[in-house]
Amino acid sequence: MPSKLSLPLRRRLEQAARAAAQGSYSPYSKFRVGAAVLAGSGKIYAGSNVENASYGLCNCAERTAIFTAAAQGERTLRCVVVYTPTRAPTMPCGACRQVLNEFGPQATVLAICDSDECIETTLDYLLPDAFGPENLLKDSPASSSRKAR
Ligand code: THU
Repeated sequence: MPSKLSLPLRRRLEQAARAAAQGSYSPYSKFRVGAAVLAGSGKIYAGSNVENASYGLCNCAERTAIFTAAAQGERTLRCVVVYTPTRAPTMPCGACRQVLNEFGPQATVLAICDSDECIETTLDYLLPDAFGPENLLKDSPASSSRKAR
């Protein structure tokens, strides 16, 4: 799928995701992940996975980056890049796909690693028929069918 990003911007995002992996706190899995998102403003926000002794509270790199952007007031995301120091690229988990849907339902998703292999796709492809903010609008078809019951 052709990227809508210019090559220099793509390289900046990739670099930000790679650098973010250095901040990974992953003493349990030892799986270091970095992510970078491109917001509607043009700014790039990065994050790493942050694990916890209570394993279920581990936070993925993608969500760290997305929440960092949202907390700075960003409300649209154009792209997320996820980097893992592996031979094959790693795709965002289901939870991260859902969180990305909130701000970037049309976002480009790019997975990069330590080989030349990469995967480029869209959130729309990875999470079809997503549940999102529009489902909670009072007059949406989704909520009127709820009302009828
Ligand atoms: N992880 C991510 O940060 N992003 C992904 O796309 C996959 C998984 C993290 C969560 C956890 O810290 C570790 O990788 C092992 O699952």
